[in-house]
Amino acid sequence: MSARHNPYDAENFHASAIAEGRHRSIVGGRWDETGRIQMEILRDAGLRPDHHLLDIGAGALRLGCKAVPYLDPGHYWATDASRALLLAGHAQELEDPSRLPETQLIEDQSFDFPGVPDTITHAIAFAVFPHLPMAYLRRALTNLRRFPALERVMFTVFLAPDAGHAARPFRQPDGVVTHDLRAPYHVLPEDVTHMAQVTGWAVQRDDRMLPRGQVLFTATPA
Ligand SMILES: C[S@@+](CC[C@H](N)C(=O)[O-])C[C@H]1O[C@@H](n2cnc3c(N)ncnc32)[C@H](O)[C@@H]1O
Repeated sequence: MSARHNPYDAENFHASAIAEGRHRSIVGGRWDETGRIQMEILRDAGLRPDHHLLDIGAGALRLGCKAVPYLDPGHYWATDASRALLLAGHAQELEDPSRLPETQLIEDQSFDFPGVPDTITHAIAFAVFPHLPMAYLRRALTNLRRFPALERVMFTVFLAPDAGHAARPFRQPDGVVTHDLRAPYHVLPEDVTHMAQVTGWAVQRDDRMLPRGQVLFTATPA
């Protein structure tokens, strides 16, 4: 993929950050707090140790370092545009790396989910779609429909309240300014509902407060 949508797409962005030991900061910092929030979201959604989790755009395993010890061994899978970032997390952030085979860390920039098994029951994409134009969300939802056991997909976005506001920079509750044509991106609530509907999902918006004012949606098969 050659298009540049956000800083992650810059040449050598991941490689130089990892070499400088900045694998935590490039996924947004707030390491422990954000990992805990994601675990809370998943446990509230009914995630049990025997379920199978796909962490989409998992970065340096900010969630993985908490989900891997919680889940039965081998029940966590992760994708990211950078496999090097996933591997940095595997090497430096897991208490017991033997609970997660490296083969379950998959490079995937286009939400095709190559090599992800049919056993996946839950998927989460936290702080991923705010970095990407909204067609990526539609593509992810489309491709996730092929997983027969998938019960819930949780993802975050930034929202703008209406089309008029969406066409201009919009200040989120905690001060982050989001945009329609460049990162960090916002969408309308109706965009999310529509993309879910045309891809075979029903979505529900969650009211909890999330870091930087992101909003959580949960998709279930329609
Ligand atoms: C803010 S970080 C969040 C990482 C992780 N979900 C977490 O909460 O720690 C955004 C992640 O999205 C990844 N990313 C950016 N563009 C992507 C794409 N097209 N496909 C998959 N991952 C992408 C980045 O490499 C980065 O790890």
